[in-house]
Amino acid sequence: MHHKKENIDIEEKVFSFKIFRFDKRKDQGPYFECFNVKAKKGMTVLEALLKIQEDQDPSLVFRYSCRGAVCGSCAMIINGHPNLACRIQLANLPSPEVLIEPLPNFEIIKDLIVDMEPFWKAYRMVEPWLMPGEREKQGEHLVTEKNRAQIDQFVNCILCACCYGACPVVSRDEDYLGPAALAKLFRFIRDSRDKRNWEDTFKRLDNEHGAWGCDTVFRCVDACPKQVRPTDGIEALRRRMVLRPFIRQAAHEAKSESK
Ligand code: SF4
Ligand code: SF4
Ligand code: FES
Repeated sequence: MHHKKENIDIEEKVFSFKIFRFDKRKDQGPYFECFNVKAKKGMTVLEALLKIQEDQDPSLVFRYSCRGAVCGSCAMIINGHPNLACRIQLANLPSPEVLIEPLPNFEIIKDLIVDMEPFWKAYRMVEPWLMPGEREKQGEHLVTEKNRAQIDQFVNCILCACCYGACPVVSRDEDYLGPAALAKLFRFIRDSRDKRNWEDTFKRLDNEHGAWGCDTVFRCVDACPKQVRPTDGIEALRRRMVLRPFIRQAAHEAKSESK
């Protein structure tokens, strides 16, 4: 009942959007521009931006695709907090004045569109995708329910880069790989089907731009719209890197004893 009343009220309201504008090809510097939008029942921030683009300024640009909080492309700063524009309903905003800015820690291409290349570069470097062994390549290979539960939250990552935009280490070290790529890699450490040579991977991450760069201030956890806790993944990755020689030694001893 309460929600219904809120949505009826919202239809009466005009929302004022203060939007970051910048075109690197022609503007001397960034500026803000205000647009008013008459709210509709259930309208999201993304729908309001589309309405502005359609009715008031077709030159305003932003990314989106799924409109359902799945593709991760509409990440931006809404009232000072990273979020997905398609996930936030106007009815749930604290005031009809809405500040919209692009994700920080990226170069701005135009308006709310940023150059995601550093984010994807880190992703490619970390290789957070499944590398099965020969046995796993042959037909179906199931993971146990317990194993799936261990990787569950990291599977939910939609690579929106909200965490990367919020990370203070990324803002001072452009070579830091960032929370998303490192946490996603941890998902494959725990995935029993992944049989890559972990020594090579750990060697690449054993430095201050990799697993040891994080200063554990949890901004990425606050920023994530999908309830992923990247810091937990990075911490667990570090533990695994430190313990790896002991695990290998123990496995070696067990093998020798069984001979
Ligand atoms: S961890 Fe969360 S904030 Fe970071 S990329 Fe994945 S979904 Fe987005
Ligand atoms: S916890 Fe680590 S990865 Fe997350 S925001 Fe802080 S420094 Fe960045
Ligand atoms: S449009 Fe896909 S997550 Fe928002």
